[in-house]
Parts: sequence; C-alpha cells; structure tokens
Amino acid sequence: MDTSRLFQPMKLGKVEVAHRIGLAPMSRFRADDDHIPTPLMKEYFSQRTAVPGTLLFTDVNLVSPAAGAVPNAPGIWNKEQIAAWKEIIDEVHRKGCFIFGQIGAFGRLGNPESLEKAGHKLTAPSPIAREGALVPQSMTIEEIKQMVQDFVKAAQNAIEAGFDGVEFDGDNGLLIDQFTQDISNQRNDEYGGSIENRSRFTYEIAKAVADAIGPERVGHRISPWSRFNSMRMKDPIPQFTDVINKLSSIGIAYIHLIEPRIWGDVLVDTSIESLDFAFEAWKGPILIAGGYTPELARKVVEDHGDRDVLVTFGRPFIANPDLIYRVKKGLEFNHYDRPTFYTAQEPRGYIDYPFSSEYSASIESS
Ligand SMILES: Cc1cc2nc3c(=O)[nH]c(=O)nc-3n(C[C@H](O)[C@H](O)[C@H](O)COP(=O)(O)O)c2cc1C
Repeated sequence: MDTSRLFQPMKLGKVEVAHRIGLAPMSRFRADDDHIPTPLMKEYFSQRTAVPGTLLFTDVNLVSPAAGAVPNAPGIWNKEQIAAWKEIIDEVHRKGCFIFGQIGAFGRLGNPESLEKAGHKLTAPSPIAREGALVPQSMTIEEIKQMVQDFVKAAQNAIEAGFDGVEFDGDNGLLIDQFTQDISNQRNDEYGGSIENRSRFTYEIAKAVADAIGPERVGHRISPWSRFNSMRMKDPIPQFTDVINKLSSIGIAYIHLIEPRIWGDVLVDTSIESLDFAFEAWKGPILIAGGYTPELARKVVEDHGDRDVLVTFGRPFIANPDLIYRVKKGLEFNHYDRPTFYTAQEPRGYIDYPFSSEYSASIESS
C-alpha cells in the first residue's frame, strides 16, 4: 500500500481531490460527426473513476465552429453538446470523482476542409504553416476578439454542463500556443512583436473567463519546451514567465506543465531543459505531466514537499482504467496500443483495456 504524499488529498480551487494523480487531457476523437460527446465516452470516463476522489481531464473541446472543426473532437458551443457532457459529468460525480473540461482552438492545426464546409477559414496569428500543412490566413483583430468571446461562452457552457472547472489548452502548438511563441506569431500589432504582446491573447482569455465563471475554476496548460507541431521559440523562458506572471495576477487555480521530455505524445531526449523557472514564477498548485512513472510521480511530489503538485498520466491511463489502484498497490501496468489512440469513434483501444484482477476482486468483495 502506497502511503506516500502522492496519496494525500490536495485542494485545487474549490475541489479537494483524494490523491495527486489525475487523468491527463487526451484527444481521442470518439465524439460524433457533430462534435457531440457519445455514450462511448461516458463509458471511458466512467471506467477511469475506479478510485473515488480522482481528477479527470477531458479531450480538448472545440470552443466554437471556427475553432478548427477537427473531425470527431468534442465541442462545447451548443445545447446538444452541453447535454451530452452533462450525462458524462453526472456519472463521474456519481462515482465520487471530479472532471475539468479542457477547452481550446486549433488555429493553423484546424481541418481546412471541415472548416470550409462550416463556413470558416484556416486562420492563425500569422500566415506561418505547421510543417507539411496549409498556410493559414492571419486573424483580424475582430476575429481575435470573437475568439476570446468564444472561449468565454465555452467556459460558461462547461459550467452549465456541470464541469468542476475548465482548463485552457495552451500547449502542443494549439492556437493559444501559436499566439504565445514568436515562431508562429510574427504580428506587429498589439498581439505580437514583444513578449508582453504575445501574452495578450492568453491574458485576455483568462481574464474574461475568470470574470465570467470565477478564477478558482480556471487552469492553464503549457508545454514551453515542446517542438511538437513545429513549435518551440528559441528561448521560451522569458515568454512563458510573462504568461505565468499574468495568470498569477488573475489568480487562476493552477497551471499544468508538460515536461520537456515529451513532445506531443512521444518521449524525447532532453537533458538541459527544465521547468524550474515555472516552479519559481508560479506560487500556487502545479499539475505536471509527461513520461511519468509511479516512481517519478512519487519523487516529484516529495521533491516539492512545500508545494501542492499533482501528476497527470496520459498514455498509461489510456491502457489502465484502474491506474490509480495499480499505483497504490504497486501492480504492473497494461501496455498501451498506439495505433488506436486516435481512431475516430472506435470502441477498440478505448474502453476495452482490462482492469486488474485484484481491482475486480476488491469490487466484488465490497
Ligand atoms: C492520444 C493523446 C491525445 C492527447 N491529446 C491532448 C489534448 O487534447 N490536450 C492536451 O493538452 N494534451 C494532449 N495530449 C498530451 C497528454 O495530455 C500528455 O501531456 C502526454 O501524453 C504526456 O503524458 P504521458 O507521458 O503520461 O503520456 C495527448 C496525448 C495523447 C497520448
């Protein structure tokens, strides 16, 4: 039985989780063709509530039809989507767990054909393409202001659906990240050209959403060192320090960091890059992800004994619905099957990973 700090409760805004391991946000493309969450997704999240008091994150939700139109990604702009999420959230709460909705927009990573069908264009801060993709059009100031409003509406919808909070997807080269880093933002208006201007999009979203739903229900996720999706400015430290300082001034609940060793969903060799700067700049609770094993998770939580740190697991949680139970009891993990990570609407590789026999027996005897 694991009695380490990993299994001590922790406060995150108004929520108190029972332990410090969570399900990382992961896009699995099991929503329907209208971006409505499905019963399959309810089953998936329900399975991952095996241990009460667990914090779950959803796939990134499109904030509006203009936010990328990525096929089978869930959305949170209409009544049907809110109602479908409510079913999932109610199930998670019934099992004694918590769930934050991740929200975001894809910018230059959007799907050009689906966007066109929905009457929208592929847009981004600047006409700079991700490697191998189409060149996006620059967003007008009007489009930027509209997108900020889309985030606010999505956050309000998320709260209406019953989510315990929302997290902005500011990582992995999505729209917020595209505004933040000079590698994808070469604007010379108030949204580009300086550190302060590149932080403006994040700040405006965070401030407006915090005003609308309360800062204690808001978190922000970043991957300052990742090269995934053609990202990574030369020196991310001053830029992301500024973002963190601005978020501190708003008083959001936490920041969620991705380790340098992970680019998107693959492990890479990075030895000199570190998140220490973020731990220095941000004084509140920190969530962290990227290549964690139970040992590394225990260590990071203990190493920052004076701070509240919660580790989110991605790929291992895909393959182990009872991951928390396995960590607690020191059980082996199932291996994940990468080819089914993103297979649209497929139950296979989504809800068919086995629970441990020990967990199943514990449920039968209780
Ligand atoms: C299938 C898959 C989908 C992902 N989708 C998202 C996403 O929607 N939003 C996000 O912030 N991160 C996303 N990520 C990144 C994970 O949240 C996590 O940071 C990454 O997998 C590293 O953690 P791990 O080593 O425990 O897998 C995704 C990762 C995977 C494997």
